Order: sequence, then structure tokens, then C-alpha cells
Amino acid sequence: MNTEIPSPSHRRPLSLDRFLFGACYYPEHWDAETRREDAERMAAAGFNTVRMAEFAAEHIEPEPGKFTFELFDETIARLGRHGIDTILGTPTAAPPRWLTLAHPDAVGVNADGVPMQHGSRQHMSMSHSAFREYSRTVTRAMADHFADNPYVIGWQTDNEFNCGFSEDHSPAAQSDFQVFLRERYADDITALNQAWGTVFWAQTYQRFEDIPTPRNRRPGFPNPGHQLDYARFLDWRVTRFQREQVEILRAANPQWFVFHNGCFAHIDFRGPFIRDLDFLGYDSYPLFDKNSETRPHSHAFNLDRARAWSGNFIIPELQSGPGGQPAYFHDNPEPGEMRKMTYASIAHGADGILYFRWRTCRFGAEEYWCGLLDHDNIPRRRLKEAEAVGRELKDLGPRLLGTHVQVTVAVAAADFTALEAQATQTFGTPGLSNYAETLHRWFHREGLETGCVHPADNLDGIGLYMIPHWEVVDPDWVPHLRAFVEAGGTLLLSARCGTRNADNQVIAETPPGCLADLAGVRVVEYSRRNRPEDRPWVAEWEGVSHTAEQWVEILEPAEGTEVLARWTTRHAAGLPALTRARHGKGSVLYAGMGLSQNWVEDFGPLLRDLAGVHPPLPDLPAGVEIVRRESADRRFWFLINHSDHPAALAGLPASARNHIGSDPEQGTLCLAPSDVAVLEENPV
Ligand code: GAL
Repeated sequence: MNTEIPSPSHRRPLSLDRFLFGACYYPEHWDAETRREDAERMAAAGFNTVRMAEFAAEHIEPEPGKFTFELFDETIARLGRHGIDTILGTPTAAPPRWLTLAHPDAVGVNADGVPMQHGSRQHMSMSHSAFREYSRTVTRAMADHFADNPYVIGWQTDNEFNCGFSEDHSPAAQSDFQVFLRERYADDITALNQAWGTVFWAQTYQRFEDIPTPRNRRPGFPNPGHQLDYARFLDWRVTRFQREQVEILRAANPQWFVFHNGCFAHIDFRGPFIRDLDFLGYDSYPLFDKNSETRPHSHAFNLDRARAWSGNFIIPELQSGPGGQPAYFHDNPEPGEMRKMTYASIAHGADGILYFRWRTCRFGAEEYWCGLLDHDNIPRRRLKEAEAVGRELKDLGPRLLGTHVQVTVAVAAADFTALEAQATQTFGTPGLSNYAETLHRWFHREGLETGCVHPADNLDGIGLYMIPHWEVVDPDWVPHLRAFVEAGGTLLLSARCGTRNADNQVIAETPPGCLADLAGVRVVEYSRRNRPEDRPWVAEWEGVSHTAEQWVEILEPAEGTEVLARWTTRHAAGLPALTRARHGKGSVLYAGMGLSQNWVEDFGPLLRDLAGVHPPLPDLPAGVEIVRRESADRRFWFLINHSDHPAALAGLPASARNHIGSDPEQGTLCLAPSDVAVLEENPV
């Protein structure tokens, strides 16, 4: 499916030939007797796909070069006979013990200088030649073996790169970092010294081979340019590691799709890493948010942020029971909750769902990570709920393919450089993702179709676009943002936007630098608000007062820029705090203050009204989520009741039919607690 992969965009649908539905399956964990009924049971649950083998390295290659595929051949064939295809994983997240015995130095080393060891997973260094060689060998052996297997449809690379352990300061990583830098700076050490500003604290390097990986507090703070390039190096090397696998897989069978699961640190999911793949897999564990009231919002945000990287995705792992590892254990999803999490995932862009996991394992570090089946292999309500979803998705799933999620209010949440640069010096303020989530939560709670979108992405249909505190803004995005505004959009910029460049250096121009003309302001003074209640800075906008948090700025408006809010306190009293510059049919607002929870509670209604954005259903009952997916000829309304009460909905398209429950009557529908409706309007 992969010859022409369209560029990443939040509106990019997947070109799968089916809606994937199934589970993660680990036949190597069970004896034949326990596995006996698995294929029948999966088929009865409506499964069409399983994922296997991503942790089966030692089963597949018990000794170097000696491969055994019988168990997987037999399992894949048996599942195939039941109409279930297989996605395989390259098993490099947990290689066999013989690899570390032969190459004890091939492990990663953490920032404290401690080498990782065999005994859990992800302990290897992706910079070490022996590990790369191992990765290519096992991938090639598996790819060649399964190339003509009609039931193998695609591959997952590794498993959740950079989850848990993402840095590496091993000797192999040190020299690999130097290779990366040499490439990045085209062998010009002066260019590197300038980019990092190494004149500060006598850090000037004469040769690339003298440059160490940066470690925090050894003893002081590393150079921010050095740190940002180290993050780029980690992305570069994981991309290289993955590409070596992808090339082997594509050569063996170009019909296979290839993806990776997970969105973890130090990977640019809009860059070459994702462009080598057909699509992204996002593993979703909503119960990590232990608060049932905030969970629908955090779940929605996480899915929207995943979609912002490259478009629709699959969920190779969706939580199907409580999860537990030594330090925590989640609540068991109540009846209906798993189904609800499934439809929320689909609503926000999933074109495939595999539950994690088929059966709960009785041993190992995750012996309490519950699957659809309990330890005793007796089918109970979690499997029954999956069966019900499987029945519903049989017709609905294929109809959803080709549709994208409708977004009216968007927040910038996903850019590698912006996120990595801010993380090098947060000054104790929330991370950029936290700011994005705070804004997203408020608008999502208000019933608006809220999403996450990158500033260079397609902004069609968006009425309000917010960029919360992105210090690194690429000047190339500015004309695109201007066009969005001129066409009628409202853009909200905020304190510190555009203040650093791609080298993580502070810009020489007055902030907001490349955004200054668009915003119609210059920032003439700024301060961190460490204790907002102490000497408060209060801004007033149309009679609403807000005590600023995190950051404050004093703005100097350009001619023609309106002042919407002024400071009313301290030495800033009477000076501009929030401005509006009009361009074409739209406006750019610049808020010289932190976009905190209180900010959006105070000013969110004014911002929403100024932008003129509306929810698709005006009187959405509290706790009900609405998301729409559409294509040129059809539109789906996902209505999800997250509350503990029945919810009466009105104003729905009267002719729409509900794929998974009763149809609306004269535009009204009642949803029981945890129930979901998926209405189809066709044609739109
Ligand atoms: C995921 C991981 C799985 C399993 C699961 C439950 O992050 O990919 O292998 O560990 O979490 O902890």
C-alpha cells in the first residue's frame, strides 16, 4: 500500500483495505492446550487482525543464526483460516540474552553513567554496531521467511521506541553523536561553535571528536544548543535504526504496510521517521488518567495530538482492562467503558483498533496487565464487550475509512523543535504539551470540535487557532499563518512566542521576532510570575479580570493594532496586555501572559465569541462528547456519553441513521450512561 505516501497532515486518512480490529497476541506465552480455542474465540469476536512476535526474539532465534518459526507459522495459518490476518513486530525491543553476553558493551548508558542490563527491555544502544547488525539480521530472517505468507499483512517496527529509556551516553552513542554533528554542520566546526554559542563558559571545540553528549547537572547546566542538537541526534539515530528495518521489510514484500507504535520522547513524528512509514500507531492507555471526570478530555487530547503528527492512525494497543506494573494498578473499566474508549479512539482518528492484550499473562513484569481474557482463560464481560464492538464495526468500520476528523478550534501541540527546545529550559513552567492540553480541554468541554494541528499543516475549516508559548517558531510558517488569518481565521499568539531560533539561541530582534508584523506588537518587558498572588498583575478584558500566571509581558502595539485588555496593576497599570491586529477578514490576538487554566476559564468565553466559533450542537448536555469525521460524501457524528446519567440530545440531523443503536427520532436521541451513537449523514 506504500508506494505513494502523502505528506503528514492531521487530515490525512489511511489507505487501508479494511478497518483493523483485533488484539495483541503472544502465542509464545501459552501452551497448546490454552491456545486451543483462541482462533475460534477471536473469530467469534469479529477480529480480522492480530499483532504478534514483537517480544518473541528468543523464541524465534534461540541461538545466533538458528531460527525457529514453527509456532508462528502454525499460529498465523490457523488464525488465517479463521479470517484473521497478522501484523508482525520486529523483535528488537527485547533481544535474547546471547546478544548481551557476546557484546556486553552494546547496552545503553543513562545520564548518570549507569549501563543498562539484560532483564527488562529496551536496554540496547541503537548506536552500537552489534545491535544494529542484530536488528538487520533478525529482521531479514523474519521478512524472508514470511514474505509469501498470505496472512501476514504488515509490520510494526520494534516496540515503542524511546518509551522509558530514551537518552544514551554509551561510548557508542558518544561517537555516533559526533558523526551526526559532523553531518549536520557539514564538517565545519566553526559553524557548530557559532550555532551553540560555545564562547560562553569556554566551550569552544576544535574537533568534532572532542564533543561529549550533554548531561544535566554535571555539574551545571549544559548549553541549550548542545542539548537541542542532542535531541536531534536521538531522533536521527532512531530514524536510521528503523530505516534499516523498513528497507529490509519493503524489499521482501512491497505490499506490506509498515508502522511504528507509540509517540515518545526525542522522535520527530513529522520528520523522516514518519515519512519512512505508512502511518503512525498510537498506543492508548486512557486509564493512566485516574480521574474519571478529566479522562474523556485527556483521552481526546492524547488522540488529537497523535493525529496532529501525521494524520489518522491505528491503535496497535488499546487498554482492555486494568493495567498494573510494580508501582501502580488502574481501575477496572466498568461495563461499557471499553466500548466507549474504543469509539472515542475511532472518533479522534483511529482506523484500526487492537486491544492490549488477548489474554492476561501469568508471569513476567506485566503479570497483572489485564487483557480481554483473565489469567484463567474463562471468557467474561471484557471479551463479551469486545465481541459486541466487533459486531458493530463489521459494517461501520469500512465506511469510516477515508474520512478525517473535523476541527473548528485547534491548538498547536506537536512540533519536534518547539517541544524539545522548550524542554531544555522550562523555568519551572508547564511543558508546551500541558499548555496545549489546558486550552484543548476547555474548548472540548464546551462542545466545540477541538483538535491539535501543526502551524504548517492544513488549517481549512478552523476558526480559532492557538499557539501557546512556542519559543521556537519557524519563519517559514508565518506566510501560511497570515493566509489563514486573511481568510477569516482568528490566531492567538502568546507570551514568549518566537523568542528563540532553531539553534535555541535568543533572537536579536525585539520579540516576537518573525511574528511581530503579523501580531502587530513588540514585547518591551517580560517577567516570570513565580507567585501570581504576590504583587499581582491583573488584566482586564471587557470587564473580566484575570490575574496573570506563569508569564507577563508589556506590549507596544503597532499603528492600527487594538488593545483588548490592559494591565490594571503594578507599574504596568494602563499598559497593553492583550492586543488584536486585523489582517484581511481575520485577526491575530497576542496575549502577553500565561495561557493557564485560570486564563482560559476567565477569557475563554470572550475568545470563543470573538473568533465566532460554535459547537455543532448548541445544547450539548454536560459530559457528552461530540466529534465528527467526514469525507466529501459522508459525515459521521460520534456522540459519547461520559456521564453517569442518561443524556437527551436534540438538534441532530433528523435523517441520520445510527450505526450502533437506535436512530434519532425527529433529531432527538437519548444516550444511556457510557453509551455511544455513531450517526451517519449521507450524503452531507
Ligand atoms: C505498552 C507496551 C506494551 C506493554 C503495555 C502495557 O506501552 O508497548 O508492550 O508494556 O504498554 O504496559
